[in-house]
Amino acid sequence: SAPVVVVLDGPAGTGKSTVSREIAARLGLSFLDTGAMYRAVTYWMLANEVDVDDVDAVALASDKPAVVSGTDADGPTITVDGVDVSGPIREQAVTAAVSAVSAVPEVRTRMVELQRASALAAPRGIVAEGRDMGTVVFPRADLKVFLTASAETRAARRAAQLGITDAGEITAILVDINRRDAADSGRATAPLRKADDAVEVDTSEMSPEQVVTHIIGLVRDRA
Ligand code: C5P
Repeated sequence: SAPVVVVLDGPAGTGKSTVSREIAARLGLSFLDTGAMYRAVTYWMLANEVDVDDVDAVALASDKPAVVSGTDADGPTITVDGVDVSGPIREQAVTAAVSAVSAVPEVRTRMVELQRASALAAPRGIVAEGRDMGTVVFPRADLKVFLTASAETRAARRAAQLGITDAGEITAILVDINRRDAADSGRATAPLRKADDAVEVDTSEMSPEQVVTHIIGLVRDRA
């Protein structure tokens, strides 16, 4: 059968990565974490002392980092200039800077090319997750899902992931999530937005397994 393209978009902390990877693994599809790609570029900019708030400097350097994103759902890897950066791209410094870097059009143009190339190279198809998969990168995807969850739920999930239980720290995470979502939704180029033909799934009251099962059902309905 023809390769299938399934996309999941949504704000931070909705469980996109976890469920996308699981859906890809169960359906035997490739998997693409596009947030990891923007994080990898950001990591490179910080490591090379590019001022991430200087749009021209970021644009000028945008073709320098060689980002390679593995698409194996069982263990995707992300490298920059051949170095595995899976760990460092999750650090706070990268999280704090990624919205500024990903708002730069030159950065996005380059990432979109890589993302489309990954989909073309996927033998059975791909599950791609991010912010603009349904609106910009894969406008003709077979299935578009837009994941949402209340801000409190998203902060609690992120805290649990990081092993944080302190109420003050959870509030700080909530503030950070809201800041990043506002930046991602408010930017001029490819803002975070539900595609008109995307199915919205509110995961606030759902377990990851319920979300996975629900979306696999939607894929089967479309196929
Ligand atoms: O999904 P994750 O939280 O790892 O994404 C990190 C950041 O990368 C987002 O906050 C957003 O600024 C950027 N991003 C993007 N477009 C995508 C995926 C992520 O701009 N398709």
